[in-house]
Order: sequence, then structure tokens, then C-alpha cells
Amino acid sequence: MDWKTRPRCDETAAWPLLQAHARHFLKGAEPFDLRTAFVADEQRFERFSQQAPYVFADLSKNLIDARAQELLLQLARECGFEDHRQALLTGEEVNTAEQRAAWHTLLREPYSPGREDASQGLREEVATSLADMLAFAEAVRADASITDVVNIGIGGSDLGPRMAAQTLRAAGVTSGPRVHFVANGDGHEISELLPALDAAHTLFIVVSKTFGTAETLLNAKAARQWFLAQGGTDVARHFVGVTCNVEAASQFGISRVFSIWDWVGGRYSLWSAVGLPLAIAIGSEGFRALLAGASAMDQHFASAPIETNLPLRLALLDVWQCDFLGLRSRCVAPYHHGLRRLPAYLQQLEMESNGKGVDASGRALSFSTSPVVWGEAGSNGQHAFFQMLHQGPEVIPVEFIAVREPAHSLQDQHRSLLANALAQARALMIGQTSACGHRNFPGNRPSTFLLLERMDPTTLGALLALYEHRVFSSGSLWGINSFDQWGVELGKTIAADLAPRLASGDAAGLDASTAGLLARLRPS
Ligand code: F6P
Repeated sequence: MDWKTRPRCDETAAWPLLQAHARHFLKGAEPFDLRTAFVADEQRFERFSQQAPYVFADLSKNLIDARAQELLLQLARECGFEDHRQALLTGEEVNTAEQRAAWHTLLREPYSPGREDASQGLREEVATSLADMLAFAEAVRADASITDVVNIGIGGSDLGPRMAAQTLRAAGVTSGPRVHFVANGDGHEISELLPALDAAHTLFIVVSKTFGTAETLLNAKAARQWFLAQGGTDVARHFVGVTCNVEAASQFGISRVFSIWDWVGGRYSLWSAVGLPLAIAIGSEGFRALLAGASAMDQHFASAPIETNLPLRLALLDVWQCDFLGLRSRCVAPYHHGLRRLPAYLQQLEMESNGKGVDASGRALSFSTSPVVWGEAGSNGQHAFFQMLHQGPEVIPVEFIAVREPAHSLQDQHRSLLANALAQARALMIGQTSACGHRNFPGNRPSTFLLLERMDPTTLGALLALYEHRVFSSGSLWGINSFDQWGVELGKTIAADLAPRLASGDAAGLDASTAGLLARLRPS
């Protein structure tokens, strides 16, 4: 099937069948209940769980049955999912609005020199650019005069490397200079960091795909001003850039630039030179292991049949929950301290990719797309919002992530952590009946459990690639372009208009609320 003219999910024969099944499933004579489903089917755990590279997933505690699963697979087939996946993985222009590929998988594909096809030139460029970036990372690690590295970037130029560096630090994998991240347009973030640094011993990496993002440029200017004020003399040595826009970086005064390609989307860019701060933190071997883990998941995604394709199965579950069960929120609960920024990373990955109200050709959608993704590391979340997950009126699917082997030796603590993750998933499912309303737990609340053997670069790479492909797959079924983000533009334009008005006080043409607030926000 031509992936460009594939039907959208709501144009398939499976769609009304899923709607009918969901009515029966939720409100039939015997509505689906997880507790009875496990009693009725001794194989439910095996049937609804799945091993993929480095990640085991238990989907059995979700509100899904064999019929729903079968119809969802039919939906994927009817939507031409496999052809669309092939287009993604072979570098076709799947980002149709911007006429670009979204070929982040190429960045982690092992390079083979003897290959003969049209993309070989590009593959060579990718391999060379990776080798350059890693050589630089190793040089920084070996340079005793650099004690601190500051990554300045926002969104995709921050979230992935920051989360991965944090995760692998907790896993005991990082070494070398201290790596810091500054993202926020709020000057408090950089102002808090700079006094702790010594200009002569600090390397700044300014990361911006476009080199036009206001927050990053303001932070980079503040860093340069501070550097010069501290007596820093060699800007060219202490500032490097990562960007598509080499000219803008050199106008800023950065001569050492690692370039990235326009077909690398910001939220998919960790695998490119955007990963430089991570490579400095974990070394070139660690970074190559991260790529290898992601590549193993890419191969699974590319070749596993759709029935046992984990990214697709997760995506089908998302579609089922969002569009048929009315569950439009997902809580991510990583039971690993290092993964505490994973929910923030996933918010961009999922909600910037799939939070769209029109399909790839601009037609309005009449169904829900990206769920609201949020969360917090376990067990912290248990002492905050889990009350609502267990007893609130709204059902919110939870995604637990647990790691079997800890990187520390506090075995009692680790056993308790794993017990808590298991207990929460079980409590959500089994509930508890009590005559006292306050002690009543409805149960039958869904969760997914992702299980990793240990946390290391390879496993993290596989986990992140799993999420990327899940987002592509659900976007593919919804018929949307997961690789643009026009929704961020209007606010940027209005902010650019309001910034000078805050200085001048000019409120002409503004609505009364904005004008009133602007007047109050002006410096006194
Ligand atoms: O404003 C949203 C966004 O464009 C993201 O998609 C992107 O990751 C982020 O800003 C940063 O963009 P850049 O890397 O071009 O500074």
C-alpha cells in the first residue's frame, strides 16, 4: 500500500468494530474486569506480555481482551502500518509538512563500508560525524583543565541528553568532568549555576538545531558575558556549538561546530551530536553502547511480526485506551531514581509529536490523539498522587518501569523498591472491598509493567528507541505527522512582540487582560 494515501484509523473497517466491542467491553451484561480475566485465562500473563531487546513488557494488567487485540491488529494492517514503518526506516520523507525524512534510526545503524546503495554517501557522513563528536568528547574527558561542561539548549536540545546523563550517573556509568544543563529561559537557572564555575576550566556547549531559539540564545549570551567578565580569553576554545545552522553559530562567535542534519528532529536528536554532553559524561564506548541498544530495538521494530512487535503493541494499547475506553492520560512511574526526568522527556516526545488535532493532510480529527503524559519516579509518587490513581473517580493507566539489578549494594532498599512497584500495580488491579467508603478501592485499574535487567547505556538506548517507535506507531494509526510542531510557533511570535512592550509599556492593540498584566509586570 502507498503509505502516503493510507487510510486513517477512523476510515477502516476495524474502527466501528472496535467501537462496538468497546461498548460491550465497558457496558455489556458482564463488563470486562481484570480480576475475572485472570481467573478465566491462566495464560493471560503469557498472552499479553512480550520480550523485546533489553525490555520485557507485561501488558496483561491492562483493560484489553483477545477480541480487542485482534481488532487492533486488523486496524494496523488496514492503516498500512507496515508500509509506513518501512518508509520511516528507509529515510523517505515521512515528515510531509516539512518535506523531510525522520531518519534518526540511521544515526544508530552500524556503519558497513562495503554497502552499495544511494544512501551510502550519507551513511559515511553519519559515521564520520559520530567519530568526530566522540573524538572531541574523549579529548574533553582527557583534558584535566576542563572540570565543568555546561550544555545550553532547550526542548530536544536538552531533555534527552539531560535525562540520559542523569540516568547513567545514577547507574554509576559516568566519569570525567561535571556536566551541567541549562535550559530554562528563566535567568534564575543560569544565574544559580555560573557562580559555582571557573571560567578557565569550563566548556560551554550551545545546542540548538535552528540556532534561533530565543531562550538558548539568551542563555548563551549570558554565559559568554559572564565568561568575559571573569577574565576568560579564549571564546573559541571554551564555546562549541551543535546545530544545523552553522552560519548563525559562527556569527555568534563559535568556530568549533558539530553539525546535524535537518532530517534529525529535535526530540529525536539524542543520537546525533546533540548527544555530545552525554558522550562527555559516559565516554565514546558508552555512547556507542547506547546506539547499539537503540539499534537492537530498531531491528525488532523493523522485523518483528505485528503481533509480537512491542512498540506497535504499546501504540495499539494507546489507541484503544484513548479512543475507545476514554482514558486520555498516562502516568509514567519509573522505579529508578536515575529515570526521574523520563516523564519530562516523554512529555516532549509524545505530546509534541502526537498532540495534534489535524491529520497529515490538514483534515480535522474527530478522535483523541496524544494522551496527557506525566509522572514521577517511584516511590516518591506513591506519597503524592497515587491516592488519586487508586481511589479518584478517573481511571488513569500507569506505566511502571522497574530495573532488576541495582547499581548500589543496598539490597534491602532495592527489594523494598521492587516490592513497592509490584504492590502498586497489583493494588490498582485487585482493589479492596470495604463497607467503609474511605477504605474501598475499586480496583480493575490498568497498568503496564516494563522490566529492565539492569540500567546501562545499551538498555537505556533500547528503552528510548522503544518509546520513539511507539510514538511513531500511534501517530501512524492516527494519520498524523508526528514530526512537525507548528503548535509551538504562535506563542513564540506573541512573546517576541510582547518583550519590547514590557520595556516601553505600549499596550496598543492588546486585549484588556494581557494589557492589565503587562502593566503590572513592568519594572517599577
Ligand atoms: O519550540 C519547540 C522546539 O522547536 C522543539 O521542537 C525543539 O526541540 C526545541 O524547540 C529546541 O529547538 P532548537 O534545538 O532549534 O533550539
